[in-house]
Amino acid sequence: PLPTPYTVPLPLPTVAKPHKTDTTTDYYELVQRTAEVEILPGLRTPIWGYDGQFPGPTIRARSGRRTVVRVANNLGAPTVTHLHGGHTPPESDGYPTDLVQPGAHRDYVFPLEQRAATLWYHDHRMDYTGPQVWRGLAGFFLIDDDEEKALPLPSGERDVPLMICDRSFAPDGTMPYPARQDGPGAREAFMGGVFGDVILVNGAPWPQLGVDRARYRLRFLNGSNARTYELALSPGGKLVRIAGDGGLLAAPQTVDRIRLAPGERVEAVVDFAAYRVGDHVELRNLADEGPQARVMRFTVERDARDDSAVPATLSRVERLDPDRAAVTRDFEFNSGNMHGHTGWLINGMPFDVRRVDARPKLGDIEIWRLTSDVAHPVHLHLAPFQVLSVGGERPSGPPEWKDTVELREAQTVEIITRFTGYRGRYVLHCHNLEHEDMAMMSTFEVV
Ligand code: C2O
Ligand code: CU
Repeated sequence: PLPTPYTVPLPLPTVAKPHKTDTTTDYYELVQRTAEVEILPGLRTPIWGYDGQFPGPTIRARSGRRTVVRVANNLGAPTVTHLHGGHTPPESDGYPTDLVQPGAHRDYVFPLEQRAATLWYHDHRMDYTGPQVWRGLAGFFLIDDDEEKALPLPSGERDVPLMICDRSFAPDGTMPYPARQDGPGAREAFMGGVFGDVILVNGAPWPQLGVDRARYRLRFLNGSNARTYELALSPGGKLVRIAGDGGLLAAPQTVDRIRLAPGERVEAVVDFAAYRVGDHVELRNLADEGPQARVMRFTVERDARDDSAVPATLSRVERLDPDRAAVTRDFEFNSGNMHGHTGWLINGMPFDVRRVDARPKLGDIEIWRLTSDVAHPVHLHLAPFQVLSVGGERPSGPPEWKDTVELREAQTVEIITRFTGYRGRYVLHCHNLEHEDMAMMSTFEVV
């Protein structure tokens, strides 16, 4: 039986504290270990968690301050951690074969020469990202900067990270993953991805949060393996979109729904002063019906003072000029035959660490044309990009930086990016984690 929605309070992930800090750098340490946590009321669920938590501790970092995260692996399997959205040197980017063996540790060095944004960290082990993230290896990594701090946006308790992901549970409380018996990845019946029937927010099933009649900044992250959400408020209400994957938009955009594919983030301000004390405001998922159409619920509890505002100008976002692109490359995301069974391929090829598929030059602007058979959320490491066109149309809305973009079925999306900062090997991949494990990944090398 599924738990009753809106009875469990929304948990907030703990905020990690640096164990050392000096003039340039903050040092953190996270230990990956197994734990048993209560997700469904009255049942113990074994997880793999950073510090034994799911979601892992939130790291709150400062733009331009070097952040070193030591990840110790106390699990029985190799891991590798990627900072999703990080502008990171290659040796710390969590390349899928840069494994940390059980009992070992690794220092990931993040210079964080990048703007404020909602990032997240998660496991990225080649062929096993799906099961290892499913078991709980994911957490928030929030970057602040002076520009954003100077804005009167809701803050403190009214700045709420929300990691949304779906999981399935066996009657004993475990979260079984349908792994192949004879190799990596999920079983072939799960080609489309592994979906759960329970929607978790910050690791709690259909939780509920009491709020003031005031503005809240909600940082939505889709941490699901494969499910895409279309978030909306019920009984109606506006979401003021202020940021995407790569931080603040140039200007706020008022919308009534937000589509969020795996890996994507959107920040929105919701003004609960639009409701009365005692009102329930549901966050719904219009992409599904039944229990998966529910996400969480806010209960408006009290009147309160609110000094926050959403300024008409949030930031300056430079638009990359397609005329300055040095090259246009094509990447086709399709299924196909891979070592005798069906897999997910890019340009007809499965991921192979011995092969480099593109060599952009450091400093160059490039256009990448992405096409799909079925829907694929495509994620590019290192280089934030802008979407030039979706199905031939220029996207509406203010310019923004992204690192993950959803290709809908049989669609072409053109993105434009500039490769700055670091030379080296990085990956482009589908962020449906089962597609990723079934080899829908490609290496590029900045030269
Ligand atoms: Cu969020 Cu390469 O992953
Ligand atoms: Cu995919």
